[in-house]
Amino acid sequence: MARISRSAATCYGVGMTPPAPSPQDLLETLKQVKYPGFSRDIVSFGLIKDIQVGAAGVTVELATTSAKQHAIDEIQTEVERVLAEATGLPVNVTVHESRPSGPTPGAADGPRGRRPIDGVQHIVAIASGKGGVGKSTVAVNVACALAATGHRVGLLDADVYGPSVPTMLGLDGQPAVRQDRRIVPIEAFGLKAISMGMFLSDRAPVIWRGPMVTKLITEFFRNVEWDELDYLILDLPPGTGDAQLTVAQQVPLAGGVIVTTPQDVALLDVKRGITMFQQVETPVLGVVENMSYHLCSGCGHRAEIFGHGGGQSMAQQLGVPFLGEIALVPEIRARGDRGEPIVVGAPDDPHSRPFFDLAGAIDAQVTERAAGVVTH
Ligand SMILES: Nc1ncnc2c1ncn2[C@@H]1O[C@H](COP(=O)(O)OP(=O)(O)O)[C@@H](O)[C@H]1O
Ligand SMILES: [Mg+2]
Repeated sequence: MARISRSAATCYGVGMTPPAPSPQDLLETLKQVKYPGFSRDIVSFGLIKDIQVGAAGVTVELATTSAKQHAIDEIQTEVERVLAEATGLPVNVTVHESRPSGPTPGAADGPRGRRPIDGVQHIVAIASGKGGVGKSTVAVNVACALAATGHRVGLLDADVYGPSVPTMLGLDGQPAVRQDRRIVPIEAFGLKAISMGMFLSDRAPVIWRGPMVTKLITEFFRNVEWDELDYLILDLPPGTGDAQLTVAQQVPLAGGVIVTTPQDVALLDVKRGITMFQQVETPVLGVVENMSYHLCSGCGHRAEIFGHGGGQSMAQQLGVPFLGEIALVPEIRARGDRGEPIVVGAPDDPHSRPFFDLAGAIDAQVTERAAGVVTH
C-alpha cells in the first residue's frame, strides 16, 4: 500500500489500467479544498495527517484542532468529492481530533498572573470605546450564533455598570449558588450566561466602586460552574481604560473584537481599543461597525445617515481585520428588548446574517490561531 511518497513513473499502454495515483499527487489535488471561511487550503493548514492508496481505495486521515463540527463535516465532504473525482476510487476519510494542547496559545499561567478558566477553551472579549454602540447586542447575538452552530458557549456580562445581557436573553431568575459557593450560570438559547444584572434584585443602577467591580469579576471568572466551553464571550464594560484592562488581564484572551458606530468612527477610540488589547497581549480579531446604515423597513431604502465605509478604511489604516457592518434596524433593538435575540428569533432574517458571519469569522480566526497558523 502506497503512502505519501512518490511512486516510480511507469509507462502503460492501451487497455492497461492506469497506475493508482500516488499519495503525493493526491496531496496536490487536496490543495483545491479550502478551509471553510478562508482562502487558504487544508493542506497548507496542515490538516492532512495521512494518505494511503490501495486496491480498496483511498484512505485519508484528517487531523483537526477545531471544535467546529460543521467545518469538519464540510471539509470531509469536499475531500471525498475531489478525491473520488480525481481517482474514480472509493474514498474513506477519517477525522482524528487533535485538540490544541492549551485552551488558547499562551493561555497557560502567563504574564501578569493570567490564569485560564478550567474547561474553557477560548475567551473572546467584546469591547467598545464608549457605551451605547451595541456592544452587548453584538456579544449576545454572536454568542447565540456560535451556540446555534454547534459550539458550547458561555456569555459573561462584565459590564457591571449597565448589565443588559439578562434583558437581551429574557432572563429574570437568579443563578443558583451551590453549597460549595460555586455559581451556576443560567441557560438560555443553548448558552450559559452570567451577569451582574442577575444579582441586582431591582435592576436599579448601583454605584460600584473600582475594587468591588474587580472583586466581582474575579468571582465570575473563578467561581462560575461553566463546565466545558468552546467559547466564553466577554461583554466588557464600555471604554478602554484601566477598569477594562483590569478585567481583560485576569484571563488569557484568545482575541478581542472592537465594536464601533459610524458616528463613533473616531480613529482614536479604536486605536485605544487596539492598544488595550496589545497591553494584555491579545490579538485584535477585528472591528465591527454597528448601526452602520438605516434600512427602511417599508421601502428597503438604505440611508447612510452618518456616512459609510469609515469602519472599513479605519480598520485598514490600523492594520486590523474589518469584520463587517450591521444595519440600524428596529427589529434588532425590539428583539433585544423582548429577550429574544434576532439570530434566535429570526435566524433567516437578512439582518441576522452579519451576526452569523461575525461569529464565523471569530471562530475561524481563533481556530486558525489555536492551530498555530497565524503567529502575529
Ligand atoms: N444594529 C442595531 N439596530 C437597532 N438597534 C440597535 C442596534 N444595535 C444596538 N441597538 C440598540 O441600541 C441600544 C444600545 O445597544 P447595547 O447593545 O446595549 O449597547 P452597549 O452594550 O454598547 O451599551 C439598545 O437598545 C440596542 O437594542
Ligand atoms: Mg452593554
